[in-house]
Amino acid sequence: MSAAERELVLTAADHLHGKVGPVLSGCRLGLVLGSGLKEFAAELQDRVEVPFADVPGWPVPKVQGHGGALVLGTVAGAKVACLTGRVHLYEGWTPGEVVRAVRTLRHLGVPSFLLTNAAGGIGDDMAAGDLMLIRDHLNLTGGSPLIGSHEPAFGPRFPDQTRVYSARLAQLLGSAGARVRPGVYAGLLGPSYETPAEVRMLKTLGADAVGMSTVHEAIALNAMGAEVAGLSLITNLAAGIADAPLSHDEVVAAGAHAAATLTKLVTEFCRRLS
Ligand code: HPA
Repeated sequence: MSAAERELVLTAADHLHGKVGPVLSGCRLGLVLGSGLKEFAAELQDRVEVPFADVPGWPVPKVQGHGGALVLGTVAGAKVACLTGRVHLYEGWTPGEVVRAVRTLRHLGVPSFLLTNAAGGIGDDMAAGDLMLIRDHLNLTGGSPLIGSHEPAFGPRFPDQTRVYSARLAQLLGSAGARVRPGVYAGLLGPSYETPAEVRMLKTLGADAVGMSTVHEAIALNAMGAEVAGLSLITNLAAGIADAPLSHDEVVAAGAHAAATLTKLVTEFCRRLS
């Protein structure tokens, strides 16, 4: 990262500690809610909401009608911290900005994270609406949130990535009652969807799903010693796998359609966690 990036995270953490420290203390899970998956935050009991815009240094998503928020509360007995909305590299944000909020939560002591996203399905027999449990990833963005000076408080210079995605959390998600299939997530820069040739390449490389987020968050959190889980909602088949052209509307609609399934799954996961 950089010394400036470190200071931005520490300043954000100080601010949140002062503002919602007691609510954050004992928080079991940080949840990043991706495209179309934000409804889950509405399920929390004893909700406390902090708009991203109120946290110094936190980037505010530009794409949605309203910017995201940190939503704190309780689900099935577990205290959780939801980030509704994230910022992406394709919007022009730096890797440091993309991971700033999760780094802040981790710095404040949140031990485990569930990163969710919308993704295109590549694996055999995948269909829109499927849920994929990320068992590993391919970071094909050409970047990393760890580039720059080494900041020891945020992890080793050369973090091990043999187990970025926690087997324990995967097991809890896998036994939470919904059909989830494990797979490899390929993270690309975007914002264009892939060409069919790129999708064939990704398949050769061992990817089961492709998207434009998540990998930098997983890299930064793994370096900081967090337990990480990832869940992809397959909103469409990746380009060239089905005959149809891709549309963002289709991705959003599939997200809305799967919201109830995802809410149930994550609620059960939180119950098992608590
Ligand atoms: N490709 C990349 N990102 C995506 C896709 C896709 O097909 N679907 C949802 N996010």
